[in-house]
Amino acid sequence: MIEEELKIIPEPAKVSLNDGVFLLSQKTTIQVDLTSTRNGEYLKQVLALQYGLILAFHKSSESNEGKNSIILKTSNEKELNNSERYSLLVSKENIIISATTSVGVFYGIQTLLQLIPNRALKGDKISLGFSIPCVAIEDFPRFKWRGFMLDESRHFFGKKQVKKILDLMALLKLNTFHWHLTDDQGWRIEIKKYPLLTEIGSKREGTITSQRFLRSNQKIKAPIDEIPVSGYYSQQDLRELIQYATERFITIIPELDFPGHTTAVLAVYPELSCTGGPFKVSTRFGIHKDVLCIGKEKVFEFIQNVLNEIIGIFPSSIIHIGGDEAPTRRWKRCFDCQARIKEESLGSVENLQEYFTNRIADYLGLKGRQIIGWNEILNDNLIDNALCQYWTNYFDKVLEHIRKGREVVMSEMKALYFDYPYRLIPLHQTYNYDPIPSNLEEKFHKKILGLEACLWTEYVKNNDKLEWQAFPRLIAVAETGWTPKNKKNFESFLRRLERFLPLLSAFDVNYPKKEDFLQDQ
Ligand code: ACM
Ligand code: ZN
Repeated sequence: MIEEELKIIPEPAKVSLNDGVFLLSQKTTIQVDLTSTRNGEYLKQVLALQYGLILAFHKSSESNEGKNSIILKTSNEKELNNSERYSLLVSKENIIISATTSVGVFYGIQTLLQLIPNRALKGDKISLGFSIPCVAIEDFPRFKWRGFMLDESRHFFGKKQVKKILDLMALLKLNTFHWHLTDDQGWRIEIKKYPLLTEIGSKREGTITSQRFLRSNQKIKAPIDEIPVSGYYSQQDLRELIQYATERFITIIPELDFPGHTTAVLAVYPELSCTGGPFKVSTRFGIHKDVLCIGKEKVFEFIQNVLNEIIGIFPSSIIHIGGDEAPTRRWKRCFDCQARIKEESLGSVENLQEYFTNRIADYLGLKGRQIIGWNEILNDNLIDNALCQYWTNYFDKVLEHIRKGREVVMSEMKALYFDYPYRLIPLHQTYNYDPIPSNLEEKFHKKILGLEACLWTEYVKNNDKLEWQAFPRLIAVAETGWTPKNKKNFESFLRRLERFLPLLSAFDVNYPKKEDFLQDQ
């Protein structure tokens, strides 16, 4: 197949290979129209940093299509169906990347970078230039949500590593970075109104050494390693990272997990629980019975104050409010929660979380933001515009939600949970997962916004392990998110991966050997 000769990931929608090559050398210039200036600067920077190619850069309002140039054109026309679409035309004379939007041009650049021979990454014989095959590519994504979630509550990786992830996401045309920043084991965002959230809530004494031991005998817990874990992002750090992501056309969606997974909050403010505590930032994992009290007004005050700061920092129109694994056990015996059930005619404790979700969604709605929550938020009277992120269980409820005309992001645990070892989720299992459920009527397919891989980090303690778990599985997710379904093929993907892995090495990514990620293939 022609496409395989080009070895691009994700595989583009339409490719035709022509005769001849373009010679990319130090004499090549980058030419941009005014709207493409930022993209031109990005291309110049990447070629310099990764390939040692220092190219001259021209801005011009008129399009004089000079010889030996990489020409970036943004038409700024309204693109109704697919704002991420681009075309890339490589001829012997020049390279033209054009799109209606800057993001399209950016993705055209990403594809072009994959056409440069890998040996160029080492700066080999730059003076001779590098051959780029003449091609015509028309490309656009299958899904608009192509995401990666990183849990930084369980372990904290820091700014440099997040930038590295954003760079890798850009290379793969992934556009949504979902950032899980709060959980039982740590609160990792500075909130100016509540400085103790990070002063106390970002620190834990240690980490349980095994989950398995716990499961086999609930009475005997595995030992705590007594290695303190801490770390958080200041608001200035967050702004810097949002800027970095924006330059790569990646939306950062912060997740503040409520009302469960809140032990780090309760450790600071036990009065927000049903029982009054006391609590410590958790050193063990799993579902915790102590959660936010839904009966107490001060809980809503607290959340609204926190969200006010969050929406002041994050421009994303969507805010993730968690909602997973919130047990009702404490609510059942809480005077305030029971009073709330009566006042609001909720009927039972099972509807308290829905009351909570709808109130938060209403509040954010007034501020022009929409919520997304894990599939446990689904209930009969859930607010209309809430988005759902499916991960496990209750799939019928998810289908029902979609058939009401509502939107979903798919994070099927058995394919997209990268905390699982390759032994349980080998590469082909991730690759072959399709976000459109086979029993979903075609008219609802567009309600599936896309897919998102999740990396929970209970047992991911450092950058090397993080990268090992994520790559190459995230590359497979990128292809599912972008490539037309009928063009996906695992054998072809593996051949193209051979070409892609050196790029990962150039980024200094720690990924497993083929026999490890393929497992039983
Ligand atoms: C989840 O994995 N608890 C969303
Ligand atoms: Zn309560």
